[in-house]
Amino acid sequence: MSVAQENNLVLLIGPRGKRFITRLKAGASLHTHKGVIQHDALIGQPLGRQVKSHLGEPFLALEPSTHDLIMNVRRHTQIIYPKEAGYILLKMNLYSGQRVIEAGSGSGALTLAMARAVAPGGQVYSYESRPEMQRNAIRNLQRVGLDDYVEFKIRDIAEGFDETDVDALFLDVRTPWDYLKQTREALKSGGFFGSLVPTTNQVSDLIAGLERHHFGDIEVAELLLRQYKPVPQRLRPADTMVGHTGYLIFARKIEMEEASNEASPPMP
Ligand SMILES: C[S@@+](CC[C@H](N)C(=O)[O-])C[C@H]1O[C@@H](n2cnc3c(N)ncnc32)[C@H](O)[C@@H]1O
Repeated sequence: MSVAQENNLVLLIGPRGKRFITRLKAGASLHTHKGVIQHDALIGQPLGRQVKSHLGEPFLALEPSTHDLIMNVRRHTQIIYPKEAGYILLKMNLYSGQRVIEAGSGSGALTLAMARAVAPGGQVYSYESRPEMQRNAIRNLQRVGLDDYVEFKIRDIAEGFDETDVDALFLDVRTPWDYLKQTREALKSGGFFGSLVPTTNQVSDLIAGLERHHFGDIEVAELLLRQYKPVPQRLRPADTMVGHTGYLIFARKIEMEEASNEASPPMP
């Protein structure tokens, strides 16, 4: 998108760095603490430039990135931040055409990143036990026009998933190790598993469960991101840093040999 059209999403960055995302509509306006910006001043004009509010305050008008869209979701739960979401997409091999399950939908932040990766032609199946949470996630996906790539389902995933042979499955729930039997049933052979948990004891429980359920190529990782103040003469880290988000665990579904199947204890 180089010239903004009606219905496009546009990012406006105000004088002190405050960010707004709006969908362009003829005759509409964006009201900010630094004045009003008429959508008509943006429609049909190139992006990547400065516009002024009615108070003369400068705003940068840009196409929003996936990072911007994730940070803009209305949060009713803890979300998966772009720092982790980017790595999750790569580790779980999510590209156009892939089919992926996630649970729970939460606020739909990861759903959004996954939908952008698998569209067009792919599908996200997003499970959530709390209807009010999923309503918010659906609204967040509708706001950015990605809801066509997501099938939302209200269900406790203890009851299992409808889909089989999916390429990847991600669990963002408190006790992911409780759902590994259901996960195996939904994933294709060699399929990609991922999860995020906030504490190390949860990591231990999950990797023990993954071993019991014959997952292989297990990885545990923590990602730290340090932002810098972009001032050439005084280049230094930002004053504050997000100290902790969560631990990432990845694994692949491995088929069990007949012989080792018999020797293995039954799965809980
Ligand atoms: C941390 S939030 C997920 C956030 C989401 N990944 C995002 O980025 O916005 C966890 C969600 O999982 C849901 N959940 C927890 N246990 C579940 C279960 N057994 N079945 C389905 N959803 C579950 C919770 O209701 C909650 O909304």
